[in-house]
Amino acid sequence: MAKNERPVVLVTGSAGALGSEMCKQFLDEGYDVVVSDLREEAALEVAKNLDPSGEHVLTVAMDVGSTPSVDSGIESIIKRFGRLDVLVNNAGNFRQGLTSSYTDEDWRFITNVHLDGAFRCCRAAYPHLVKSPFPSIISIASIAGRIGLPGRLSYSVSKAGLEALTRALAVEWAPENIRVVAVAPGFTKTANRIFVDGKEVTHEAFAQAVPMKRMGRPEEQAAVVVFLASRKASYINGQTIVVDGGATIDLRV
Ligand SMILES: NC(=O)c1ccc[n+]([C@@H]2O[C@H](COP(=O)([O-])OP(=O)(O)OC[C@H]3O[C@@H](n4cnc5c(N)ncnc54)[C@H](O)[C@@H]3O)[C@@H](O)[C@H]2O)c1
Repeated sequence: MAKNERPVVLVTGSAGALGSEMCKQFLDEGYDVVVSDLREEAALEVAKNLDPSGEHVLTVAMDVGSTPSVDSGIESIIKRFGRLDVLVNNAGNFRQGLTSSYTDEDWRFITNVHLDGAFRCCRAAYPHLVKSPFPSIISIASIAGRIGLPGRLSYSVSKAGLEALTRALAVEWAPENIRVVAVAPGFTKTANRIFVDGKEVTHEAFAQAVPMKRMGRPEEQAAVVVFLASRKASYINGQTIVVDGGATIDLRV
């Protein structure tokens, strides 16, 4: 089929809170959008709400934890649109647990999605991104990769690793004009439950630890992702933008 005129973005894990908002904002900016998730039904629902006609939105069931699934997912995007311009490594999972009782399987459950998943998607996207007039990769890290938080070792290590992946690939792929950047969200108001010392706390109570005294909103994270993909961000490369209301710069305890 003929190559798409509109740029194409793939957002992994986009049946979720942040990913679905990113898809909405990319669509508003004139992209054709690939909604992809492990949870196919939920992804189809997001896609249907965004574009009932299906003209500018494609749903792809993709498990970033599996190389064959990622490779065939990217193939199906190329088959439909003939191009891929922006990859957002957003898929994520979480399993709270203290390191002393964390199993090898617990560790791999997290790292295989956040970190290995991003690597698989970057590798599979690369041959298509090099053909794009303005390609970029944006990975969703976390402030957990920068500050110590108990009970989430593999998550924190994965997110710090994503920042390293961003720097390393930015240098490796700069000659091909592929910009590689990341966003590190702080505490963002989604359906997620928050536990402190094993006890659940409300979002409102937790937000008091943030200088701005509120959680971030999904649209505030998505706006930065869309900006980073845009030509306005054409000289930003290899960096992680922290979007956390000041949480990681406040020294008060
Ligand atoms: N919400 C926050 O406060 C926050 C803060 C910092 C970073 N983040 C990061 O932002 C990203 C999105 O978070 P969210 O709050 O929207 O979470 P979410 O749970 O709402 O969405 C994550 C999505 O990833 C999908 N997913 C899980 N495993 C997958 C796999 N193997 N393959 C494909 N998809 C898979 C899930 O089905 C889900 O739809 C994650 O990487 C998360 O770590 C979130």
